[in-house]
Amino acid sequence: MTERKKMTVPRVVAKKAAGEKITMVTAYDFPGARLVDRAGIDVILVGDSLGMVVLGYEHTTQVTMDEMLHHTRAVARARPRALVVGDMPFGAYQASADEAVRNAVRFIQEGGAEAVKLEGGQTVAATVARIVAAGIPVMGHIGLTPQSVHAFGGYRVQGRSSEAESQLLRDAASLEAAGAFAVVLEGMPVKLASRITEAIRIPSIGIGAGPYCDGQVLVYHDLLGCFEGFAPKFAKAYADLNTVITEAVERFRADVEAGRFPDREHSYE
Ligand code: KIV
Repeated sequence: MTERKKMTVPRVVAKKAAGEKITMVTAYDFPGARLVDRAGIDVILVGDSLGMVVLGYEHTTQVTMDEMLHHTRAVARARPRALVVGDMPFGAYQASADEAVRNAVRFIQEGGAEAVKLEGGQTVAATVARIVAAGIPVMGHIGLTPQSVHAFGGYRVQGRSSEAESQLLRDAASLEAAGAFAVVLEGMPVKLASRITEAIRIPSIGIGAGPYCDGQVLVYHDLLGCFEGFAPKFAKAYADLNTVITEAVERFRADVEAGRFPDREHSYE
C-alpha cells in the first residue's frame, strides 16, 4: 500500500481545483486523533465544540485558550497525517489584531497546530490578514457561528433573508481577500452555500450547509453517536457508541457483582 502524504495547507487548497472533496472531523485528544487519522481524514479540527462535547459547558463561548491549547497539544502528539487546525476560542481574537496574532502564534508554538480557525466574516477580515501576514494559515467560519449564539438569540440557521445572503457572500469574499485558505460554512440554506462555494477560489467546508460545498466536517461525538446533548438536523451519526459503551460498562459491573471478573485469564498465578 502506498504511504499517504502529509496533508498540508496547499494540498487541501489543491483538492478544490482537482474537484476532490475535502474531509474534516474534530478531535480533542491523542486516541481520537489517531482514530480519525487512521480513517484517512484530510483535516483534524481541534474545535471549540470541545466545550460542549467534552467539557460539559452549555456553550462554546465558555472555552478558554488554556483549555484549547491543552487539547491541541494532545492531538498534535498523535503526529497525524491530517492537517491539524486549532480553533481560536471566544475572546482570543476579538479585542485586537495584536492579541489575535499572539494567540494564533500560541496555537502553533505551544499547541503544535498547523493552522488556526476563527469565526466571522468582513468584521474579522483585517485580523485574518494580520495572522496570515505572521505566516499562520487561517481557516474562516461563517453562517451559524456558535460563538455568536447570544447575538443570534439561539442556534438558528443563517442567511435566510436576501440581505443576510448578500452579507454572507461579502463575508466569504472578504475572508478570501484577507488570505484565508478555506472557509467553514455552517447552518445555512443549501442554495446559498452553493453560491458561496462557486464565488470563491478557496475551498468551502460545510456543516449543515448541504452537499455542494468543497468539503464536509462533522463533530467527532456527533459522528460516533456519543453525545447526549442537542443534536442538530445535520449531525448524522455513523455509529451508536453511547449504546456500545454503556453496554460494555454494564457487562463489567455485572461480572464484578457476580464474581465472574477477574477470572484466571485476567489474573497472575
Ligand atoms: O468547534 C467546532 O467543532 C467547529 C466545527 C463545527 C466547524 O467549529
